[in-house]
Amino acid sequence: MKGIILAGGTGSRLQPLTKVTNKHLLPVYDKPMIYYPLNTLVKAGIKDILIVSGRGHAGHFLELLGSGKNFGVNINYAIQEEAGGIAQALSLAEDFADNDSVAVILGDNVFQNDFIFSDFKDGARVYIKEVPDPQRFGVVTLDRDKITKITEKPKQPETNWAVTGLYIYDATVFDIIKTLKPSQRGELEITDVNNAYIQRNALEARKIKGFWSDAGTFESLYRASEFVRNSKQ
Ligand code: G1P
Repeated sequence: MKGIILAGGTGSRLQPLTKVTNKHLLPVYDKPMIYYPLNTLVKAGIKDILIVSGRGHAGHFLELLGSGKNFGVNINYAIQEEAGGIAQALSLAEDFADNDSVAVILGDNVFQNDFIFSDFKDGARVYIKEVPDPQRFGVVTLDRDKITKITEKPKQPETNWAVTGLYIYDATVFDIIKTLKPSQRGELEITDVNNAYIQRNALEARKIKGFWSDAGTFESLYRASEFVRNSKQ
């Protein structure tokens, strides 16, 4: 299995912090944000990792992380020329994946849990977490433990279960992305990818117990920093 960190986007919700730098390079307590998703993949035993970032800051990621030697992994880099959504960024990893399955993590997601991916066979897997503010996320509709639908940022969420930014896909994900149409906000949505797997009855959901936060808003960035700080004491 290969690893992919998606670190593009404009970071518009963090202006002016993101005016001259990339969101994923901002500090989460004592480390640059991207260290956290990178460590999540490293701890899961992933050895080959691709970082997809936007044009303006790709060089900064290279300066920060280099070949990956200090983390004991190989890091590769790809450039998303224009912000076109998470699924569009993922499509740039097709050659890198080379028909292997992929663990995809959003560059602004901080997880407490350690993960094991070695039992993944095919289809797709998402990790879900109960949150107080589901309307900020992809939200699952559940029938017992089975997901019947995911809705991106619903105004009136049907549950409190958010889809976190960690996904495992088999190699068919790249064919699915080719069939997607841009959403109302003009992006290829990762939620549409996951719904395509639901249609095939091939999406597995795992509930996670530990702390999880994104860090893409002032509040969530603050919460993620606070968690990291408290976990060190
Ligand atoms: C993205 C996904 C959303 C997911 C979230 C997790 O949202 O579109 O489904 O719940 O990441 O962090 P974004 O942060 O791009 O608004």
